[in-house]
Parts: sequence; structure tokens; C-alpha cells
Amino acid sequence: MRRVYIFDTTLRDGEQAPGASLTPEQKIVIARRLANLGVDTIEPGFPISSPGDFAAVQQISREIRNVEICGFARAVKADIDAAVRATEDAERRRIHMFLSSSSIHIDFQLRKSREQVIAIAREMVAYAKQFVDRIEFSPMDATRTGDEFLYEMIEAVIQEGATIINIPDTVGYALPDEYGAMFSRVMQNVRGSDKVEFSAHCHNDLGMAVANSLAAIRAGVTHVEVTVNGVGERAGNCSLEELAMAIETRKETLGVETGIRPEHIYKTSQAVSRAMSFPIAFNKPIVGRNAFQHEAGIHQDGLLKNRSTYEIMDPEKLGIPRSMIILGKHSGRHAIKHRVGQFGVQLNEAQLEQLYTSFKELADRQKVVYDQQLLELVGQATERVMEPYTLVSTQLVTGTAGHRMASCTVRDNASGHEAVYTGTGEGPIEALVAGIKQALPFEAEFADLELYSLSGGEQANGEATVTIRVQGASFRGSAVHRDIVVAAAQAFMAACNEAARAKGYQERTEQSIRDGAVEITIP
Ligand code: KIV
Ligand code: ZN
Repeated sequence: MRRVYIFDTTLRDGEQAPGASLTPEQKIVIARRLANLGVDTIEPGFPISSPGDFAAVQQISREIRNVEICGFARAVKADIDAAVRATEDAERRRIHMFLSSSSIHIDFQLRKSREQVIAIAREMVAYAKQFVDRIEFSPMDATRTGDEFLYEMIEAVIQEGATIINIPDTVGYALPDEYGAMFSRVMQNVRGSDKVEFSAHCHNDLGMAVANSLAAIRAGVTHVEVTVNGVGERAGNCSLEELAMAIETRKETLGVETGIRPEHIYKTSQAVSRAMSFPIAFNKPIVGRNAFQHEAGIHQDGLLKNRSTYEIMDPEKLGIPRSMIILGKHSGRHAIKHRVGQFGVQLNEAQLEQLYTSFKELADRQKVVYDQQLLELVGQATERVMEPYTLVSTQLVTGTAGHRMASCTVRDNASGHEAVYTGTGEGPIEALVAGIKQALPFEAEFADLELYSLSGGEQANGEATVTIRVQGASFRGSAVHRDIVVAAAQAFMAACNEAARAKGYQERTEQSIRDGAVEITIP
């Protein structure tokens, strides 16, 4: 297997996505995750662009070992000086310098002659080479440049000491066969190309960044520049997780491998999405929430018999919590019975039929039937209460000033005890959660909230998904309601019920009533 090196530019090119900017502290946290993930090179920023970026590149150079750190620069002395200084303390480093090569850029943006551009490229590579041995050079907008000038520029910078030639598809214009063929021609025709390494850098304007990067790899490129979640200018860059998993899944065919540790992919993707406040599309390959979920009855039936019937990767190997089956109107009896069985409930024929009928009625009215709702239906079919706790009702006082005040009634279904709890907070959800927490016999840390509008107009239903952490483990709950705040409170309750079921808290050994609430000692 030939090794392909993963160059991560989430913190430089990724951060150039509108609205994605990060603080130096956030960059450091993400750089640690990238190192853990197994990337070979990190480009942590553009040191000349701001004191904060300089500090982040410097700090990452000092802290992160075993990963090459790259300082980014225009072909300008001041940029190179900043990149050299910022990366001074790195264990291994390279300088990445770029200069436009296409006529469109040279004539309209640089407004220089071709000779002047070549002279600048030569001079600046030679200048940087005095300080750092590994010099990466990128002819910007290379895919719209034309072979003659591209060869001339690359040959010139190799003569001056460039060691890595990155050929970017800056505007995401190339097609896979063209991009691969371009590398093959450069490797064949440019003098000195046998002494350098080649790198691909693709943008996704036509949705081809991953395909183009794979084509470059097949042409012999050894470095690929990527970003987590594919963030970057406009439609973004080649997505790290998609490329890494394409290589992992098809390595026998591609004959290459990377150093990426798949088990860290999901957490890194989540961390970048949160830090940048960039949501991940539901259908995004690998890390989107639907990427390993199945709603169609035929697919669910196949999956329950053998996962590989409809999945080419195992989400658990990517660190993705498994919840492959989404119950909705396309789901069949097999999937419903299986899910109910996961809650330890065995239904007889009549109960399953009753459940199936009421499930289909509900599923017709809404897109997804959540576990909490399924369990309510199971309860009706079996005349049992299935959830450890029920959020019976909520009331809220809210406004533009002061704290929000909430009261909520929670029933502990094991004991039948029902009590009213009050909470305050700066926001309504905080106030309700503060109330609900008092009803619980365990500490639940509210880790994350995702809110979606499920339809248009003023009467839209809101869907809330809450993630909580209980003793180091994560639990999720979802709910839909016309009132988005109530949806969030119900989703929190659903997540707590998940935790209670998993931890077996409902099998309490000791129970006492104090201050009007049920207090439970956890076994
Ligand atoms: O897209 C691009 O051309 C770049 C470079 C400057 C490498 O990000
Ligand atoms: Zn780019």
C-alpha cells in the first residue's frame, strides 16, 4: 500500500468560509483533535493576517508534536517572515507559499507580466528556502492556467528549492479525469519533478472535490489537502472524512492508505461544526445525521438480518453512536418489534397489531416517531407505563427582561409520585431544565441542543434533539412540538429517560420523600 499524507487546512482554508472564524483558543483545541485523528500536517492559519492567527500558529507549533506544522504565506517577504517566525518552535515544519498562475488572475488581479510573476516566484521561494527546507509552492488557479505557463512556473520554483508542488483547483472547476491527467502531464514534462512531492488541493464548487482528489492520488500524488466537514471558501474544500473513508473502504482498489484513525472522525467533525457554528447537512456522507440511518421498511428488514445489506461502513468504527433504524411511515413490523424488544418488551400478536396500527396513524402525521412516543404507544397496547419519568406539564413566565421562570410537573412512574418543580434561568429552556433536573436521582449535564423547524409558516412544528451526559456517557432524546421550548424540555426528558433506562436507575434500592420531591439513592 502506498501511503497518502493528509494535510489538514481546516484552520486556514476552512476558516476562510464566511462566518467560520475561530478564536486562537478554539484553534488550539481543534489542532489537538486533528493530531489525535492522525493527520500528517496541520496548516493552523495565516500568520500575517492577524495577531490572533499568529499566536494560534505559534502556540500550535509549540504544543503539537509528531505532526508537521505549516505556515501559510503569499509570495511576499513580510508574509514569509511571519510564517517562519510563527512556526519556529515546531518539531517539523513547512512553509506554504502561493502565487496566482492563471491569466484571469494575473491580468485582472495581479496586473503583472508573466515574466514578473515568474521572477517573484523565484525570488520568494529562494528567500523562504534560507529559513526552512520544506517549501510548498501553490500556483493559484492552476486548473485554469494552461500547461505551458504552469510548467514554466513549477520548473522555476523547483530550481529555487521548492520541495512540494501543490496544484490547486482553486475555483473547483476541474473534472476528475482532467485533474488526474494534469498531474500526470506535469510529472512527465516538468524538469525536476522527480525530485519533489506532489499535493492536491480541491474545492467543491461542482461537488467534485473528493473525486478530483482521488483522481490526483491515482495519478501519483502523495499529499492531499482537506478540511473537516469539507468547510472552506464557497462550497468548501475536499472533505477529510469523505476522502479518508473512501480510501479506507476502497483501499484494495486504490492501493493506498492514510494514517487517519476512523474512530476519531465523528467527534472531530462535531467539534469543528460546533466551534465554527456550521451545521452539518443531514445527508452529508460519513458524518451527517442520516448517513447511517434507514427508514424504508425493506432496508430496515435487511439491516436487522445483516448490517452489510445496506451499509458499506460500520458507523461504530467511526465513533458514531448507533441508531440505524429511524421509525417512520415506511417502517415495517419487523423494525417496530425489534426496537420495542430493545426496551425489553415482548409483545404478543394482538399487542403488536394494536401497536402497529396506532404507530402508522402517528407516523402518517409526522415524519419520525421518536422512542418516547413509541413507548407511549407500547404502554397503551400493554397497559403499562414504559418511561421512567413523564413530563406531565410545563408553565413558563418569559419576557424581554429579567430571569425566565418555569414550573414543571414530573411523574416518577415507578413510585407514582408526582411533584411540581420550579426553575429559573436566563432563557426559557434553561429555566425548564433547571426544574426537571430536580426530579432526577442522577446528575444530568445538558451537553447540546439542536433545533429544527419542520415546516414553513407561523404554525411550524419545532423538532428538538438534546444530548445529555450522565457519568461520562452520552444520551440523546428528541421531541416535536408546536412550541419549540416545550419540544426542548420534552427532548431533555426523553434523554433523561434513556439514561435512566440504561443505568437502571429505575431499579432503586432506596427511596425517600424530602421537600416534596422524590429522592432516590442510586445503587
Ligand atoms: O484554493 C487555493 O488555491 C488555495 C491555495 C492558496 C493553496 O487555498
Ligand atoms: Zn483553497
